[in-house]
Amino acid sequence: MQSYDVVIIGAGAAGMMCAVEAAKRARSVLILDHAAMPGEKIRISGGGRCNFTNTHASPKNFLSGNPHFCISALSRYTQRDFIALVERHRIAYHEKTLGQLFCDGSARQIIDMLVGEMQGRGVQLALSTSVEDISRSADGFVVTLSTGTVSCQSVVVACGGKSIPKMGATGFGYEIADRFGVAVVETRPALVPLTFDARTLERLAPLAGNAVDAEVSCGKTRFSEAMLFTHRGVSGPAILQISSYWREGDEIRIAMLPGTDVAELLRDARRLNGRQAVQTVLANHLPKRLAQAVAERTGINGNLADMTDAQMKTVDAAVNDWRIKPAGSEGYRTAEVTLGGVDTNALDQKTMQAKSVPGLFFIGEVVDVTGWLGGYNFQWAWSSGWVAGQAV
Ligand code: FDA
Repeated sequence: MQSYDVVIIGAGAAGMMCAVEAAKRARSVLILDHAAMPGEKIRISGGGRCNFTNTHASPKNFLSGNPHFCISALSRYTQRDFIALVERHRIAYHEKTLGQLFCDGSARQIIDMLVGEMQGRGVQLALSTSVEDISRSADGFVVTLSTGTVSCQSVVVACGGKSIPKMGATGFGYEIADRFGVAVVETRPALVPLTFDARTLERLAPLAGNAVDAEVSCGKTRFSEAMLFTHRGVSGPAILQISSYWREGDEIRIAMLPGTDVAELLRDARRLNGRQAVQTVLANHLPKRLAQAVAERTGINGNLADMTDAQMKTVDAAVNDWRIKPAGSEGYRTAEVTLGGVDTNALDQKTMQAKSVPGLFFIGEVVDVTGWLGGYNFQWAWSSGWVAGQAV
């Protein structure tokens, strides 16, 4: 039976980072993946350019049952450390917006960088390989693979969450946790488009394809980014962000011209030309079809000259305080990440090791730490992978 110091399940972002770091410490490492290629999610991320980190990454950009859990890993391996690695590999990058760093070229450069680092340090990569069984042995674990049986001192579970099953997501990491008695916080799709019921959709379907820079809030949480009307409901960065906070039955509030007093805008326009229709004025600031839809919804369609101040306030509310209850989300099929996962109370924050199972580690998305949209989730994968790499 082949023996390793470390077996890592999942050759994604977190797993590969952990493999590199463990190998730097002269640990013998086998990293396996049931997919035919490593880092498939990296490859499709950021529209093919991989938003690999965020210059503003800090613990406040993450959701978790224990918001303090991620502090240690994020401060020991920071976005600056990952940027330095990218620069050492001469990968050109740029900031797109809000601190989000993307490759100038292709996400494949990040995969090649990690695979190159693993190869250079003797990490063994086994693709198209699945795990059939994991059991404890006197000095570690015995892992039965589709290709044979191996033994190791440490098992690192890095097989991601449930999002996008088509890309190889399985939820296998939660099964391993269950099996070893490690608690799992209920999971749900996050960073996901929200959907409307059939009646609302009938009304809003003609808006599909229109986008606005909106402020979207749910309870006390708010995000100001682009929002897109789709054939199923709403999407775009602002909606994906708020989806991580939204729960069934919650109302979301949308300001489509945040920071603009629409009543005042209409009064100013009336002073200039009272014979304009309300949608004509709104169409100077919103997509034309959306301006029409707002006017129709308020039922106010005469000239500005005939409008009362109260009616102008009604239009203001329709634009900047649109309240709607999404019926649901598009689910794991399109969710970028999985909220919830391996309970942080069950893990040591400095090493990512399960407190009750020495030698068993959980890193990356499988853990109950979920980042905002914008490179934060990869930063968590790098940071948690790095700290586990120092401990395995
Ligand atoms: P990841 O999912 O990367 O890796 C898990 C690996 O385990 C996979 O290779 C999988 O095949 C393997 N695996 C699963 N089950 C297995 C099993 N049973 N046996 C063996 N192997 C198994 N984040 C970000 O910060 N910036 C971005 O630009 C994007 N963009 C983006 C786009 C899209 C479309 C999605 C779906 C997601 C993103 N993300 C993102 C999120 C980001 O991809 C995600 O947070 C990280 O990939 C998580 O890294 P992990 O290594 O934990 O899991």
